[in-house]
Amino acid sequence: MKRKPNIAVVGATGVVGSTFLKVLEERDFPYENLYLMASARSAGKTINFRCKDYVVEELNEHSFDKPIDIALFSAGGSTSAKYAPIAAEHGVIVVDNSSQWRMDENVPLVVPEVNPDDIAWNNGIIANPNCSTIQAMVALKPLQDKYGIKRVVYSTYQAVSGSGMKGINDLKNGLAGNNEELQAYAHPIAGNCLPHIDVFMDNGYTKEEMKMINETHKILGDDDIKVTATTVRVPVFDSHSESINIELEKPFEIEDVMELFRNAPGVVLQDDVENNVYPLALDAAGTDEVYIGRIRRDFSVENGLNIWVVADNIRKGAATNAIQIAEKLLETMPD
Ligand code: A2P
Repeated sequence: MKRKPNIAVVGATGVVGSTFLKVLEERDFPYENLYLMASARSAGKTINFRCKDYVVEELNEHSFDKPIDIALFSAGGSTSAKYAPIAAEHGVIVVDNSSQWRMDENVPLVVPEVNPDDIAWNNGIIANPNCSTIQAMVALKPLQDKYGIKRVVYSTYQAVSGSGMKGINDLKNGLAGNNEELQAYAHPIAGNCLPHIDVFMDNGYTKEEMKMINETHKILGDDDIKVTATTVRVPVFDSHSESINIELEKPFEIEDVMELFRNAPGVVLQDDVENNVYPLALDAAGTDEVYIGRIRRDFSVENGLNIWVVADNIRKGAATNAIQIAEKLLETMPD
């Protein structure tokens, strides 16, 4: 029998970090020792996990001196920039949820349903893609394989949990009518839609939009696919919704696309408009699947297709995807 790995969760007190713990438990992920790490602010705090109290450690240069096999990081880009290489130098394999390493050519960017083989060429860091990208990849991969993809237009409707506790607080305070100072956003989010996720870049796009574009090319392994994106924060607590408009290379029949999604890994087809059945953020929240519906032809271009894609951004868009990567790593761990 294989040895059980020692696991570290970095950012264990955060929204994604605490979901790492939930998902590890739900999937009965095997481990020998578990270390929970966060900033100095949380050091000494106790987290009860599987009936055991764990004391949160402050992340520092010596955190990886002890034997750790896999570290799940979700503590922001600058923390990953500094500490993921230190962990990797100590022989730890880091699965990093920040954007820090995603486009590094020495770091695989992985959605297990899409490009699991890329895990093999890691050099100690594996990047978890952006939450909006992950669910889009699960939907686009079967289309790419069967028909080829020429162009993609993303329009997203993203939940506040993607901004961590600060985003959740801004929506809660806004809904309660509290006049609290905004923590995450430039404008009130309650009753609003903000076409502004992450910072604006020189080209007029937000960083979130550029992440979707660049990560799509890397994960699908094709820089020739034309991609554009508009990403919008909406007053929803959990689950990102996406309208994806696709120009395929080859002609298709709608019924064949439905059948493709019916059998695609990680996908649940929800498309019965006569009975008002289509993917909804409230239904996706708390689950690990990617829901696809509103499948219809885009009559304005040749081989055009519109789909509506919804997934829990903290689970499939972050924690679950990272733990699926860790499960694949377990398969390759020496005895
Ligand atoms: P802490 O709670 O001690 O601040 P979220 O974005 O969901 O609020 O969570 C961010 C997570 O990243 C938290 O667990 C937070 O810990 C952790 N974190 C932030 N900065 C650092 C840091 N410099 N070192 C280690 N962990 C950090």
